[in-house]
Amino acid sequence: MENRSQWGTRLGFLLAAMGSAIGLGNIWRFPATAYENGGGAFFIPYLFALLTAGIPLLVMEYTIGHKYRGSAPKSYGRLSKGLEWVGWWQVLVSFVISTYYAVIIAWALMFAYFSIGTQWGDDTQTFFLSDFLQMTDAGAFGSLVPNILIALIIVWVIVLAFLFRGVKKGIEVANKIFIPTLFVLFIFIVIRAITLDGAAEGLNTFFEPRWDQIFNGQVWVAAYGQIFFSLSIAFAIMITYSSYLPKKSDITNNAFITGFANSSFELLAGIGVFAALGFMAQAQGVGVTDVVQGGVMLAFVVFPQIINEMPFLSDVFGLLFFVSLVLAGLSSLISITETYVAGVQEKFNVSRTTSVAVGGGLAALISLMFATQGGLVALDTVDHFINNYGVALSGLFEVVAIAWFAKSLRDFQNHADSVSDIKLGTWWRICLGVITPVVLGYMMIQNLKAEVTAAYGGYPIEFLFNFGWLVAIGAMMIGALLTIKKWPNNDLEFKAEASENKEVAQ
Ligand code: PHE
Repeated sequence: MENRSQWGTRLGFLLAAMGSAIGLGNIWRFPATAYENGGGAFFIPYLFALLTAGIPLLVMEYTIGHKYRGSAPKSYGRLSKGLEWVGWWQVLVSFVISTYYAVIIAWALMFAYFSIGTQWGDDTQTFFLSDFLQMTDAGAFGSLVPNILIALIIVWVIVLAFLFRGVKKGIEVANKIFIPTLFVLFIFIVIRAITLDGAAEGLNTFFEPRWDQIFNGQVWVAAYGQIFFSLSIAFAIMITYSSYLPKKSDITNNAFITGFANSSFELLAGIGVFAALGFMAQAQGVGVTDVVQGGVMLAFVVFPQIINEMPFLSDVFGLLFFVSLVLAGLSSLISITETYVAGVQEKFNVSRTTSVAVGGGLAALISLMFATQGGLVALDTVDHFINNYGVALSGLFEVVAIAWFAKSLRDFQNHADSVSDIKLGTWWRICLGVITPVVLGYMMIQNLKAEVTAAYGGYPIEFLFNFGWLVAIGAMMIGALLTIKKWPNNDLEFKAEASENKEVAQ
């Protein structure tokens, strides 16, 4: 049965894992989150979250994939029949995310083109919202926007083309091209940004520690939230990717490398973004704090403004920035799409080609909804609910089920230790069995409280119900339905491989 696809090299796997982790979250989510939650002081909760939840969970997910050698539903199912459901739930959450993530990459692709000759003009906000998105009232979809549609088709063609080619010839090759290129482009961007007038002021604003914030529970929740999202944990991704590892592969060291590479990129992005914001604030004669933004508005409204202010070669800077977004986004989109490609392929016993065509095709079709005039509002709503009640909640189920019900941590520790350079200690089991569930549980309560006190984004309640709650709860329920169908060839009957191989590949 060992004709399962495998990565060609250890570096190939690491680049793919980094490619998944390094995404839009690093570039536009981290800088503003760090700034809003204590600036320089945020690094303490952030580092704590990385070491107590991020890396331990990554080790756990790598171990699950490596040990059970299946897509997320199959791996969870092999761990315990009752858990197959969690696997499908995470796969469906990933499916939903892929449908709107693709659209953001499509916007970035169009903006890479617009940066030639700074076609967005002086009023970048009006350009983005009215001219480009052709936005309508919240709750209405209007018609498809042709520019976005074309870019979206290009995005899906690229992603599905790599996925058709398989793990080694497709996913690995894509990441071997995208990730080194992204690093080089990004270094250029950061160097340019920190050599602009006013950059120092921006960096001071970013790094200035507000120590009192360390005592604020919300800041800790923000740190854990950032680490979770940023490391693609509880997305079914890391389980799927590690299931393609050869038997003799290091687990723990690979998790540390992925975690630190991702955080380094995040820090680099923070420096680049705030240096650029400092420059813009100075050029416009306002304070840095007045121009701080995160998310979609940072990338598509504020960055075009920064580019407009640049003294020379502004087109080149714009192009580099938006191409970086596209590359960071594509490698994450490939990883998230692979979760359902692998799940469908194994459960329904079809070829990779069929599962890419059916799974990817369906996602592409649904993503059209976000390429309409009302796309941004729908996207924002789905994103909020699916992250809070899909990713974070399923992550909570995941650790509690594994640590407390299946009681698998000791077994996993032995498995990871048998192949890894770095040996795990009791600290690892405490992080997963106690710290992570407590923090996630607290986070869930806080989120639910916020949800009932105010309608998210001030959007219409019915809209929030349909595109928020229904989607988040739907993923959980459809996940349960998918477990009814039997696996082909008794696939869940799995004799755990004796993991006594002490040697490690390369
Ligand atoms: N780590 C990713 C990011 O920072 C999260 C993600 C992965 C999002 C895959 C979508 C798809 O953007």
